[in-house]
Amino acid sequence: MDGNGRWAQLRGLPRIEGHRRGAVSVREIVRAAREVGVRALTLYAFSAQNWLRPPDEVAMLMQLLRDYVIDERPEIMDNDIRLITIGNVDRLPSFVREPLEALKRDSANNRKMTLCLALSYGGRESIVETTRALCDMVKAGVLNSEDIDEERFQAAMQTHGLPQLDLMIRTSGEERLSNFLLWESAYAELYFTETFWPDFNRAEFIRALDSFRGRERRFGRTGEQLRKIG
Ligand code: IPE
Ligand code: MG
Repeated sequence: MDGNGRWAQLRGLPRIEGHRRGAVSVREIVRAAREVGVRALTLYAFSAQNWLRPPDEVAMLMQLLRDYVIDERPEIMDNDIRLITIGNVDRLPSFVREPLEALKRDSANNRKMTLCLALSYGGRESIVETTRALCDMVKAGVLNSEDIDEERFQAAMQTHGLPQLDLMIRTSGEERLSNFLLWESAYAELYFTETFWPDFNRAEFIRALDSFRGRERRFGRTGEQLRKIG
């Protein structure tokens, strides 16, 4: 979800106004995803590197995050959405962590869609953390290093409860992953749009899904092989 700051600056508004408008887009896209039957939606809301932004911007983002969790609670519960998080949530201030953890707990049995918020998240960080956890298990004698394969590794990742990542969307014209879901994006389709996140709406989201639908995913095979398998 990129481009909040530039959206605001273009209008002579403070960056936080862009983040505020970005929260409106989040609402619209979560609703659209739920309606069209997306099983899981992960939003890169705050990266591990975003802590380096000016303290007042970080503080306002934390305030917005708290507002989001509180305001969206009824929508999430009424729509049978399970909220989970990835990232180092322990770093969040308690005024965010507390309502967040409560909503995660209360929505844990919801089934229609998983909404995953990446908070204080970094893809490299998560790979390193998983590696460390597996090393600890080997050291403790509960895991043989020869038994570590892709499946075992994935099972130890924070994203273990999510389906395979199919589509990654980045707004605002930047064409890079910026440390998002590095392991999980191995076979994801990438979709880039010039639109700033506050202008990213339902119609744009549907356009991204349509683009995804039109792609041939070969997973290393040839197109011909795929057509034979059917
Ligand atoms: C994305 O918008 C929102 C967050 C990272 C929280 P930016 O704040 O990165 O917006 P730009 O890139 O400065 O336009
Ligand atoms: Mg940005």
